[in-house]
Amino acid sequence: MNQQFAKDVLNGLNADPKTLPSKYFYDKKGDSLFQEIMALEEYYLTRSEYEVFKTNKGALTKTFLSDVEKFRLIEFGAGDGYKTKVLLNHFLQENVEFEYLPIDISGNVLNQLESDLKRELPDLKVRPIQDDYFHALEKIENGSTRSVVLFLGSNIGNFRHKKAIEFLTELHARLKPNDLLLIGFDLKKDPKTILNAYNDDKGVTRAFNINLLHRINNELDANFDTSKFVHYPVYNPLTGTTKSFLVSTTAQTVEIMDAAINFDAWEAIHTEVSQKYSLKDIKRLAEESQFSVVRNFLDTRNYFVDSVWQKS
Ligand code: AVI
Repeated sequence: MNQQFAKDVLNGLNADPKTLPSKYFYDKKGDSLFQEIMALEEYYLTRSEYEVFKTNKGALTKTFLSDVEKFRLIEFGAGDGYKTKVLLNHFLQENVEFEYLPIDISGNVLNQLESDLKRELPDLKVRPIQDDYFHALEKIENGSTRSVVLFLGSNIGNFRHKKAIEFLTELHARLKPNDLLLIGFDLKKDPKTILNAYNDDKGVTRAFNINLLHRINNELDANFDTSKFVHYPVYNPLTGTTKSFLVSTTAQTVEIMDAAINFDAWEAIHTEVSQKYSLKDIKRLAEESQFSVVRNFLDTRNYFVDSVWQKS
């Protein structure tokens, strides 16, 4: 049994209000539901970032090669590489000297990505690292070659503000002065568009959220009746924060190992934060973590930005 998972679940469900960490969404089933989410009509994030890369691959190449002749491209949470392949393809076509180092905690994800890349881009120099992000950075030799770290998909938005600053400050400490960070942010927009992205018609996001309870049942010997919980996302345009909840439709007691967790009728578990940003918010976030914004690349609808940062 994963002791840390058990501890985090019990701490979260004994807290008031109840909460569960969103990092636990991603078991095998959760990974495949997230793949489905990325293909949904309502989930504009992935397509928007793909468009940013398609349109700006030349300008991004120039930015990565400013003052240097080669770089290593390090991707945090590489996933299936759908968007990154746009850049990888372009770099290969332009004979750019680079190496690609995808980092992921999941060995399955990395094996799949490596075999896809070997087939699709046989000339690519790829070195996957299975570890958490900062341990993986320690494994990469610290020569003078520029590192360009990719943190895409608005993954930063799943951190609360304080955690985001902690994460970026730690990353700052590990980068060399000439390194770059390319970070994807979902931008503030029509609140309805944002809310729909977390409340799709087919119910895939609902299944993704509820899957966390299935995972707890499977891995922690629990007895959640998932039919007694509803998926409920909200978006607050003042703060730019989307929050997702699982709400208990009835008073009930759930057993997890030896613990009994009581729910009042309509009591909620907070499961996820997905922060949305303005360009001003992004500049402030960069400055708070001692970076400065080199350049912002947006899609045509201004839905998403990939922001290039350097150490200030
Ligand atoms: C991974 N992350 C950026 C997604 C998001 O938009 O917050 C996870 C997700 N949750 C519900 N739908 C997608």
